[in-house]
Amino acid sequence: MKEIFFYIIAVLLLGQLACQKQSVSEQQAFSSVYWADSIPYPERNPISQEGVELGRMLFYDPALSAKDNLSCASCHMQHIAFTDGLALSNRGNSGKALKRHSPALINLAWHEGLFWDGGAKNLESLTFAPLTHPDEMAIDLPELVKKLEDRYDYRARFKQVFKVDTIHAAFIARALAQFQRTLISDNAKYDQVLKSDGQLQFTELELRGEVLFEEKCSNCHSGLFFTDFDYHNNGLDSTFPEGPEEVAQGRARITLNAEDLGRFKTPTLRNVALTAPYMHDGRFSDLEAVLEHYNSGVQRSPSLDKLLIDEHGNVGIPLNKDDKQALIAFLNTLTDSSFLTNPMWSNPFNQDL
Ligand code: HEC
Ligand code: HEC
Repeated sequence: MKEIFFYIIAVLLLGQLACQKQSVSEQQAFSSVYWADSIPYPERNPISQEGVELGRMLFYDPALSAKDNLSCASCHMQHIAFTDGLALSNRGNSGKALKRHSPALINLAWHEGLFWDGGAKNLESLTFAPLTHPDEMAIDLPELVKKLEDRYDYRARFKQVFKVDTIHAAFIARALAQFQRTLISDNAKYDQVLKSDGQLQFTELELRGEVLFEEKCSNCHSGLFFTDFDYHNNGLDSTFPEGPEEVAQGRARITLNAEDLGRFKTPTLRNVALTAPYMHDGRFSDLEAVLEHYNSGVQRSPSLDKLLIDEHGNVGIPLNKDDKQALIAFLNTLTDSSFLTNPMWSNPFNQDL
């Protein structure tokens, strides 16, 4: 009897999987935040509950900065989808403005390249950049390890998670990566409409926006992640600075290939209503300005994405006033208030530890 029951469940589940259009990884991603087994991770750093909790403490702990005044969360704040609301932050140790806008941290476990130009390959190695950069946290790693040895119950927590007697910078990075892999946004109105089987509907305006979006935007901002994880030049600039470390070169800084000049990672549009200002340098202060860019501001250059050039050689994506209003209504359906308020990702030091 029991076997038959399981058989029926299995057939139902398989049937459901076969009906889905999404890829397996998307399917798993959006099944549940708590289903940790489905979040991709590198073999050397499996996700555990304790590891995520330790990562959360580190993410919010100002001890990670040279002057004890800055945590990861200073530039990645939950209520605005883990970005900071500034075009170019000057909150770092030196007080100098950074060269790039702080991106939202959403569904990062699925990103193959990190940073606007894909300059980091995984969340573990990425961590050392903000930690040690003189314009960010500017911490000396051995110094940081020493600080943490005597702080809270870090030593016991590192031992529990990584089975080590002494804290090491590599494990700080691993715990932070575990926490960040759980930052999954999959419960916006958009998702609820998809999952509701017709119970919940888009408004007429949102629906018009969705149709426009599918037609004009989803080639790059694609699928349930609203990004193709690839690099494109969407026409912000017509010329690019020369020199080996010029961040405005975009992907070309990493590949040294002229075709990649001005190409940046397609940002996700989940929670985009809250993540202003926009683009890699935060040059646009609202969504109207972004849409006006696509409508009339696209600049020509040899690396401009072909999708932004029509068959007559015109550049840009023509959008009238009604189109813009509909697109913005649709983009607003990507706001996931549970992501912005879930206590799982909030500052643990505001609660009794
Ligand atoms: C002073 C502000 C600041 C601090 C502090 C900071 N970041 Fe960032 N973060 C940024 C900026 C700016 C970028 C974009 C850099 C780039 O792409 O070149 C970024 C990018 C990232 C990314 C890449 C996201 C993506 O979509 O590719 C991750 C992940 C990240 N930071 C995590 C962290 C962690 C973990 C910490 C703490 C150890 C931290 N950040 C501290 C400003 C900051
Ligand atoms: C050719 C690929 C491509 C197309 C088509 C495209 N985008 Fe983008 N979009 C990008 C890239 C790449 C960026 C980041 C560019 C940068 O920062 O240098 C971006 C940035 C954005 C941003 C800023 C997000 C942020 O977090 O800063 C918004 C909003 C946006 N696009 C909306 C749209 C909409 C709406 C459409 C359709 C009208 C569209 N895009 C069409 C590639 C594309």
